[in-house]
Amino acid sequence: MRSLRFLNRFKSCLGAFVCATLIGCVPIDSTPDPPGGGNNTDPGYVGSAACLACHPGLSESHRHHGHAQALTAISGKSPEFPETMVGDGTPDPPPGLQWTDISWLVGGYSTSANFIDNDGFILTDEDSGQRVASSAGRIQAVNSTGFNVAAGSDFGGTPFAYDCFRCHATGAESFDDNGGRRQENRAGIGGTWAEPGVHCEACHGPGSAHVGSPQTVVLNVDSSVSACAECHARDVGSDAIEVIDGFIAAYQQASELKASPHSNFGCTVCHDPHVSSIQDRERGIRNGCTTCHVDSNMARHMDKVYVQGDYVEFMNCESCHMPFASRNNLSADASVTGGFGAKIGDVRTHVFKIDVESGHLDALLTQDGSRIALDENGRMSGITLDFVCLRCHNDQGNAFRLTDESAGGVAPGIHDF
Ligand code: HEC
Ligand code: HEC
Ligand code: HEC
Ligand code: HEC
Ligand code: HEC
Ligand code: HEC
Ligand code: HEC
Ligand code: HEC
Repeated sequence: MRSLRFLNRFKSCLGAFVCATLIGCVPIDSTPDPPGGGNNTDPGYVGSAACLACHPGLSESHRHHGHAQALTAISGKSPEFPETMVGDGTPDPPPGLQWTDISWLVGGYSTSANFIDNDGFILTDEDSGQRVASSAGRIQAVNSTGFNVAAGSDFGGTPFAYDCFRCHATGAESFDDNGGRRQENRAGIGGTWAEPGVHCEACHGPGSAHVGSPQTVVLNVDSSVSACAECHARDVGSDAIEVIDGFIAAYQQASELKASPHSNFGCTVCHDPHVSSIQDRERGIRNGCTTCHVDSNMARHMDKVYVQGDYVEFMNCESCHMPFASRNNLSADASVTGGFGAKIGDVRTHVFKIDVESGHLDALLTQDGSRIALDENGRMSGITLDFVCLRCHNDQGNAFRLTDESAGGVAPGIHDF
């Protein structure tokens, strides 16, 4: 058994830790504060610009987080995102359309973008019903059509419903709850928001009272998993991990974490909530794998660099332990996967453990195929090798080809080689 570093040596640790034995050390979530905080009475949303003057450091780092770019107004031209360290952060409009045809952009800074037309409908492929997506260039998963529609085809649309934008905006209200209003009166938008994107008040509650009396009006500071699970789980309160088209469905980090060996961790044990993990990994990840797993080696991949076309990856623990097993918009086709069973989506998984025996994710599903089957402790056996080794070892890049079988032969005990 590998040793884990004492938790009191963490670079940063918020919340209490219980240490029974060395490896039994697990962080425990602090009791959540009541939403909106104790004395934040009758508050309204004032917008993140109002926080800048007194919290400049947090505001500046937050500006580079995907949260700040989760929903962006388009005014006839390409969106102006903060400079990115990973990816190019500027999607193109769908083929055949101009930015003047688009009213709002969902995402587009981190990995992929969806487009809202001027009537407030999400552009979808008329044939497949899939959301039209564009890649922002961070990932290997981009298939031959970065868009999943052919150029020149007709676009259909589905309403930009509350159940979609509630996670991409601050102070979102549904059409039914806000007295029947729609953002900018666009017919397809199912309600309103106070500020587009996930900003300060999405996590801390409305700030009007605090802004006037910061010393006396205390805002909510909730570091529990459930605060993040509002938007990083499909169904708050259910631990099920949903599967769609052979991929773990997107935004389920809370359920994945629950089914992982780190099930007692809060998200903020590893993540700084104000700093992007994608754009500023050094600061965004407070505690990396080797902070705790001090003795772990790189499993025969020390200093290896994976290259496939323009895509370059300096291997780290996450290369194997957090592969792109989830899919939000994009997955790779055979020109990227090699076509022999490898699977690549566009969101990293939080299952951490690797299942070296089952080969394919399909082997882990419930009978109806809609979810991952969990063991009696609610754990997932691990992420399968079709996502782990075959992502690279498929002959399309500089790593030799492995098959399900040969990978299953090499992976067990790979750290002990
Ligand atoms: C995704 C949720 C989230 C967003 C968005 C967010 N915060 Fe926080 N904030 C937290 C959490 C969780 C903590 C608890 C401390 C920690 O883990 O760093 C916190 C702590 C704080 C604190 C007190 C401790 C500290 O770090 O100084 C302040 C002040 C604060 N946030 C202000 C802001 C401001 C201003 C913004 C917008 C620029 C913002 N927060 C955006 C979740 C968030
Ligand atoms: C006029 C200055 C001022 C403005 C404007 C302001 N804050 Fe604060 N905030 C403070 C001070 C002072 C504290 C006390 C603790 C400290 O020194 O960080 C504080 C503390 C906090 C905390 C920690 C928990 C608490 O309340 O003690 C959070 C969270 C927070 N602010 C969020 C926000 C958000 C969100 C906004 C914008 C809506 C905002 N603040 C605007 C001055 C301000
Ligand atoms: C109001 C909804 C909401 C809440 C609450 C929320 N998130 Fe997010 N989060 C999102 C959305 C939407 C995205 C995708 C944004 C994008 O990239 O366009 C995202 C993206 C992220 C990312 C990846 C983007 C990056 O730049 O690193 C991390 C990490 C993250 N969230 C962590 C957290 C943590 C930790 C918490 C709790 C403290 C939290 N989130 C709470 C909605 C939310
Ligand atoms: C329960 C909260 C939730 C809902 C509902 C939701 N999203 Fe997201 N969305 C997220 C989170 C969290 C992420 C980032 C991580 C992930 O995909 O797991 C994200 C990522 C995205 C991204 C990629 C952002 C980027 O910059 O890479 C797009 C585009 C997106 N969502 C569009 C949509 C659309 C369109 C809908 C409605 C049909 C929707 N989302 C509904 C939470 C949500
Ligand atoms: C044990 C540490 C750890 C815990 C706990 C953890 N994360 Fe992460 N998370 C990471 C690392 C490491 C990355 C990858 C950063 C990178 O891309 O290199 C990451 C990436 C992400 C991403 C971006 C995924 C993508 O590929 O687009 C999101 C979103 C996210 N985490 C949300 C969460 C949420 C929400 C929680 C709590 C439910 C959580 N994380 C708990 C370590 C952790
Ligand atoms: C905050 C400390 C901490 C961080 C950060 C952390 N881990 Fe862990 N990890 C633990 C603890 C504690 C356990 C449980 C050990 C046990 O049950 O034997 C664990 C268990 C695991 C296991 C299962 C071990 C087994 O024997 O089955 C894997 C795999 C793992 N971690 C990988 C990772 C990876 C990869 C990262 C980085 C993305 C990471 N961990 C980050 C503390 C941490
Ligand atoms: C080349 C892929 C790969 C890389 C890189 C990698 N691991 Fe692993 N790791 C595995 C596989 C496969 C297993 C499962 C081995 C088994 O079950 O026999 C594993 C198992 C583990 C375990 C469980 C205990 C054990 O030794 O079997 C821990 C903890 C762990 N890895 C941590 C890490 C950390 C920390 C890093 C980065 C320093 C890392 N791994 C890098 C593939 C990798
Ligand atoms: C992110 C890409 C990536 C992933 C994931 C990955 N590898 Fe590799 N692997 C490489 C590269 C690149 C090399 C070096 C290739 C070369 O030198 O020809 C390599 C080399 C190897 C080697 C030869 C190591 C040596 O001693 O020189 C073995 C064995 C191997 N990988 C097995 C695996 C297994 C098993 C897995 C899954 C648990 C895995 N790899 C996951 C990219 C990857």
